Amino acid sequence: MSGGRARVAASILDADLSNLEYAVRRVEKNGGDRIHLDVMDAHFVPNLTFGAKTIKHLRPRTELPFDAHLMVDEPGRFLDEYLDAGCDSITLHVEIEEPLEPTLRRIREAGRAAGLAVKPGTPLAALEPYAELLDIVMVMTVEPGFGGQSFMRDVAREKILPAREVLRHKSFGGEVHVDGGVNRETAEFVGALGADILVVGSALFVKGRDMGREVRLIRALADEGYQFQLNDGRPPIPRDQMVRFTALPQHLARELMGTIEAGGIPVIMLRSDGRMNPDGVRDYDLLVPATAEALVTERHAGDREDYARRADAWRDTFAEPAESRRQ
Ligand code: DX5
Ligand code: ZN
Repeated sequence: MSGGRARVAASILDADLSNLEYAVRRVEKNGGDRIHLDVMDAHFVPNLTFGAKTIKHLRPRTELPFDAHLMVDEPGRFLDEYLDAGCDSITLHVEIEEPLEPTLRRIREAGRAAGLAVKPGTPLAALEPYAELLDIVMVMTVEPGFGGQSFMRDVAREKILPAREVLRHKSFGGEVHVDGGVNRETAEFVGALGADILVVGSALFVKGRDMGREVRLIRALADEGYQFQLNDGRPPIPRDQMVRFTALPQHLARELMGTIEAGGIPVIMLRSDGRMNPDGVRDYDLLVPATAEALVTERHAGDREDYARRADAWRDTFAEPAESRRQ
């Protein structure tokens, strides 16, 4: 995995479909971050690809996460099979007629990420009724159905940045995916709009092209766009980087960790090389994702002060003379 922010999900639609094992291994070897699986049923889109059974057979062939993109009319009917196949995330289309809510709930109950995709002509407003059930918003910048089409710049400009708003309930870990026509010509533009996951198909499977270089180039261009358009020229923070929010004696650290995590933000508690306490145990660091640091500070700056005071009071109890403690 790269140090930057943007991630490349390789769509294997344009790989040699007679040898998908080779395709996923090649993506892994060349530094792709995920496999994007385009399932088509010849009804929702005028094309047919593969289904849950193929995905299940592919699952043990690579360690990379699987994002399933279901371009099908009836995802609910076969959902158990996609869950059983080992998909890490499942994204449906908001335009289908069957009820979306039960399917989205089932995906989440199974511990996977749930997503909704929007075709180029569908407004983001269509996602609002389901916003709270979403981990992923997938903005399609081509008409679904085929790889190798050209990128719809106006659709990207209109939707990618606002797509983040749909995920506002997720303080951490929500993802905006961009699917269709992403390559070295368009990666900087989508990065500048804050896309997290770039789905890249045909650009990776051009004959004679060095796939690894293409992956690195696309990620770097997306991060470049992000840095200079959205992040005041500062390099993007890698998604998995953790920073110290505070350090406290163990029992207090544990308590504050619970409070922060109750708000949906993961915390790591680590024995630090910091202050030695009178009981002979050093303070523990509470680490939070760098990308959520501002939010944690906004919510818990007051707690941080309170806990620091409680820590001092607790340390003072050790300093009391033995006599007063005995009472
Ligand atoms: C289109 C698919 C895309 C597509 C991406 O229906 O959802 O994932 O394969 O391929 P490129 O990058 O070639 O547009
Ligand atoms: Zn797709």
